[in-house]
Amino acid sequence: MNDNQQIKKIGVLGAGSMGAGIAQLAATQKHQVVLVDVNEDALAKAAASLQKIVTRLVEKEQIDETISNEIIGRIQFSKSITDFKNCNLIIEAIIENLEVKRKVFAQLEEVVSENCILASNTSSLSIASIASACKKSERVIGIHFFNPAPLMPLVEIIPAVQTFEATKTTARALIESWGKVTVLAKDTPGFIVNRVARPFYGEALRIYEEGIADFATIDWAMTELGGFKMGPFTLMDYIGNDINYTVTETVFAAFYYDPRYKPSLTQKRYFEADWLGKKSGKGYYDYTEGVEMPQPLKDEELGTEIVGRIVAMLINEAIDALFLNIATKEDIDLAMVKGVNYPQGLLKWADKIGLENVLFSLEFLQAEYGEDRYRPSVLLRRMVVEGKKIY
Ligand code: NAI
Repeated sequence: MNDNQQIKKIGVLGAGSMGAGIAQLAATQKHQVVLVDVNEDALAKAAASLQKIVTRLVEKEQIDETISNEIIGRIQFSKSITDFKNCNLIIEAIIENLEVKRKVFAQLEEVVSENCILASNTSSLSIASIASACKKSERVIGIHFFNPAPLMPLVEIIPAVQTFEATKTTARALIESWGKVTVLAKDTPGFIVNRVARPFYGEALRIYEEGIADFATIDWAMTELGGFKMGPFTLMDYIGNDINYTVTETVFAAFYYDPRYKPSLTQKRYFEADWLGKKSGKGYYDYTEGVEMPQPLKDEELGTEIVGRIVAMLINEAIDALFLNIATKEDIDLAMVKGVNYPQGLLKWADKIGLENVLFSLEFLQAEYGEDRYRPSVLLRRMVVEGKKIY
């Protein structure tokens, strides 16, 4: 039997940016969708934004008027989870708060049928902990979309220790049938992407804090020399310093304060100052109309040093994730390319640079700073000693 056919009606809880996007995606894939939010304004905003999106798609001739009406027609907006009654899958995308999510999952179980799968779109919370709030914890799973959900190709699938194999298989097959690329991740802080990507922000901030280079120069080096689509400071301004800082802090605490994930005081102060980035008009850059963007110092030697340092740290995270069986090497590489648009998979990149060179960079930094932040992964050391490559 095709597992996907088991899932017809989908409930989405939370009509914020993620929930609205997931609802649009599911409705486009011809599912009946119930979108629930406790906040009436959020529902109205989601309805208006969905209408705007499909109208734009019609204007761009990507879909016709009939399809656009069908997509909207498949979504039922509601304030009550009792409307989830006949759903086969619920995807929760409410506030990132464990206690609230646990309470809501227990309530969901009172409404839905025995076989309904309950999924969370959490970015950083423990799926095991959310699942244990349910009587049938084996039906709970993490399905982590990226923003904007209809456009970003990657979805991380995160079974908890309690999750049944069948729940995982059904969820994964469904999301893949929507044309998404799925990767399987262990239920650990930040899963794959939000764990491995930490140094992209953290090491860039550290380089700035030490006065090695300014924001514009670091961004220039990472895009022009490193091949990344966006520089770290432009990206943090885009994500929002509130969100990016909070994820870093959550991951740091969840890893029992491992210095590798230590947040940056610079970013904390920007967050506290309400310099959140694009959405507040000022972050690392000033987005006020008419204000000129600062120019980078286009020094190739300095730029290469910056890229080498950040990429070595990223590769170290990717190798450590492989060492701890967070995901397969293929999935770790796929996740960074499809989830955050990295120019290539970090593990493939490591082979190209040469593992011994990556190890040398990290050992140099560790010796110079005397900080565990630069501690090379055991797997990296081992592979260098054994003369192995990752692929
Ligand atoms: P948001 O703040 O835009 O939306 C959350 C919505 O949930 C709000 O409309 C709020 O009224 C509603 N809500 C809160 N408590 C509720 C409850 N008990 N019942 C029903 N509705 C409730 O948040 P966003 O950004 O959409 O994030 C939602 C979830 O998705 C979080 O867990 C977040 O970590 C995760 N996520 C966010 C990403 C992002 O880039 N924003 C990316 C991937 C995951």
